[in-house]
Amino acid sequence: MQSGACVCSLLPPGFKVQSSTLPALSRGGSRGCFHEATMSHLPVKKKCQQPRNLPADPQYCVRFPEVVLCLVEKKMGISRKTFLTSLARCKGFCVEDASNERVTHVVSEGNSGNEVVEWLKRKGNRCVDALGNGLALLDLSWFTESMSAGRPVEIEPRHRLMVTAQAEKLEPKCQVAAYACQRRTPLEQKNQILTEALETLAEEARFCGSDGRSLAFSRAASVLKSLPWKVRKIQELNSLSCIGEHSRRVLQEVLEDGVSAEVERVRQSERYQTMKLFTKIFGVGVKTASRWYQEGLRTLADLQVHHAKLSKEQQAGLLHYEDLNTPVKRSEAEAIAQAVREAVERCLPDASVTLTGGFRRGKQSGHDVDLLMTHPMEGQEVGLLSKVVGWLDQQGSLLYHSIHRNSFQSFEDEDQEIASSASTMDRFERCFSIFCLGSLPEGIPKAASEAQGSGNSVPVSGMSSSWKAVRVDLVVTPFSQFPYALLGWTGSRNFERDLRRFCKHEKKMVLNSHALYDTEKRTFLTAASEEHIFQHLGLEYIPPEERNA
Ligand code: UTP
Ligand code: MN
Repeated sequence: MQSGACVCSLLPPGFKVQSSTLPALSRGGSRGCFHEATMSHLPVKKKCQQPRNLPADPQYCVRFPEVVLCLVEKKMGISRKTFLTSLARCKGFCVEDASNERVTHVVSEGNSGNEVVEWLKRKGNRCVDALGNGLALLDLSWFTESMSAGRPVEIEPRHRLMVTAQAEKLEPKCQVAAYACQRRTPLEQKNQILTEALETLAEEARFCGSDGRSLAFSRAASVLKSLPWKVRKIQELNSLSCIGEHSRRVLQEVLEDGVSAEVERVRQSERYQTMKLFTKIFGVGVKTASRWYQEGLRTLADLQVHHAKLSKEQQAGLLHYEDLNTPVKRSEAEAIAQAVREAVERCLPDASVTLTGGFRRGKQSGHDVDLLMTHPMEGQEVGLLSKVVGWLDQQGSLLYHSIHRNSFQSFEDEDQEIASSASTMDRFERCFSIFCLGSLPEGIPKAASEAQGSGNSVPVSGMSSSWKAVRVDLVVTPFSQFPYALLGWTGSRNFERDLRRFCKHEKKMVLNSHALYDTEKRTFLTAASEEHIFQHLGLEYIPPEERNA
């Protein structure tokens, strides 16, 4: 080693030290430091001082209390930061592990001044302003020179990190409309890693009953889905609406580190995993899943032990759990739509069956099959659903079904309004079902009740055989409401939610899957097509393939 040269100054920038070598460094304090030879050339201060407010650490002797260092681990990496920290402490420097108000000198390696300012802000440091004033933002060269000198060297301009005004440099690439129904969101999106992180947090918030928080994360994810470019820097999102502080923090972490610690924590948590497991059972919502979790239930096997507590729907959901959580392929959805068409043809010729939901938006797979039925002569559709379901059941095509007249209960607040402002309105007949795609072999329990009767409550799966259980929603609509039903059932949920929000706040209208109501003119607006509804709202028509918000 050169005389007076410091080991750290000789380290290549990417050099990482095994943390296992570090205790030996720190245990001995300055005396045990492997810079002892270098240290011995330094004038020794008679008395060690601790900086004010700093708890005294008997391991280290602080020789420069007016200088408090903080090393930026971004790009430097944790092991190198740990190594350099030990080194500096050995030399009598005070080094804080995290950024706080005691810090006077911030040392970074490989980051721009703007990046360091962003990093400090993210760590909650309030001492630095947007232009980097308030703290000395320094390149590693200052640190290595100081280590070599055995004291803090004078800061020269070349040591300082430049912070530039961000405004013109960080202009957004484009503005994004505030409502999802004003944006085009294709199926293929460019920011999947980011949207998945936010959607995990949205789901977790929903599992906690925090619907407002869940909505905020969903909205932020939805905005990102519509961006025609891959986001690489957080500043690209500066002018976008709907991306709140929390979402931004998470996105920044993912952009910089590849993952968000918060999201990973959620994904690993027992509660999240259990809630996910339970809510994936057909017929189980957040409230039920949450109650089961509180009761100590953790697995599907636990639920089988508590079989009596399950509704018929949930029993069927548990019985066919594996199949119902295997994505439905487009070809399977088409086959089911065709089978239903044939049944409808027998019961009411000229009635139509339309595949809606995600498949209409172009998805190649989905969690269920959403089918809308209508007849061009209004009134003819009455009684259709029970006939069709009866026929399908007779053919052995249904593993479970339940017909509902009031499907409105599951709708959102806006719909309650229209229900009260237009009490004469019709409500769709709807059937929740589990379809048997293929033929069920002998001996397999069709329904949960049969499974129970035979003493067999073990989940069954058609996955490896000639049949598969598939969730199917059958909805019947009067012809005059068909465009509204089609628009409402095509989704996505974010698109629908914003469409209704847009109507309410921007148009003083109320929209649901039945109708559009003008609250000022107090009239319902009829529509012959989806395009017509967009026209009523003064919105540019967005085709189904671009409603994947
Ligand atoms: P889905 O939940 O089936 O969503 O509802 P999806 O987009 O088809 O997704 P996958 O592919 O199955 O996972 C489809 C649309 O139907 C409407 C919602 O607006 C949703 O966008 N819907 C669903 C209702 O209006 N009411 C309901 O009770 C259920
Ligand atoms: Mn669907």
